[in-house]
Amino acid sequence: MNGHIAVAIDGPSGAGKSSLARKAAAKLGYIYVDTGAIYRTVGLAADRAGLDTHDEDAVKALLPSLGIDMGYNTAGEQCMTLNGEDVSAAIRQPRISMAASNVSAMPPVRAFLLDMQRKMARENDVIMDGRDIGTVVLPDAEVKIFLTASPEARAQRRMLELEQKGMSQPYDDVLREILQRDEQDMNRAIAPLRQADDAVLLDTSDIGFDESLDRLCGIIGAQLEKKS
Ligand code: DC
Repeated sequence: MNGHIAVAIDGPSGAGKSSLARKAAAKLGYIYVDTGAIYRTVGLAADRAGLDTHDEDAVKALLPSLGIDMGYNTAGEQCMTLNGEDVSAAIRQPRISMAASNVSAMPPVRAFLLDMQRKMARENDVIMDGRDIGTVVLPDAEVKIFLTASPEARAQRRMLELEQKGMSQPYDDVLREILQRDEQDMNRAIAPLRQADDAVLLDTSDIGFDESLDRLCGIIGAQLEKKS
């Protein structure tokens, strides 16, 4: 290994990966990497360029013009820049969720972003979350967790999150979008969302945030102990 510790957390959208992983990383003193934000940045760029986000040739042709960077603001939050512009808020628009899911199914997009993700793990102790971190990006991660919850629980949480950001959407629309993204992310040909054979399952359907965080940190601690 490279001397750094990697914790890979995969799971479907709305399972609470980002908020839990961010807190766990702060507790451990690791860097938190939200890889969905990177795919969202490509989705945003394609959307802004007026492309059909299902058109692989068009999206592939756009990639060389994209300067995508990841950094952290003074509050320690991950920020994404696209050709120098801070797009951290813009990538959270609901329409960009589907655009991100669409472009993330394209092999050239995944290849384009792979090095960036691996470099973060080579240079830092990380908790990295996404869909294929334990299976493809960091197959040798010391800890792998598959974090999930029922579609209904995820829709409920996503709805509250959007409300807090002033982007309210009806429950039925949020649930439909979650089911559509699950279907797309789990059934694509490349790097589909699935639990790695050696990942520990954590289902947060029936537990609140604090208990989920306790269990997540408990799993990480136990797995690291096993490896030491
Ligand atoms: O985690 P998120 O909802 O912000 O991710 C947005 C989309 O990006 C998601 O629908 C699938 C894709 N994605 C991916 O394919 N691989 C990852 N490691 C992370 C996200």
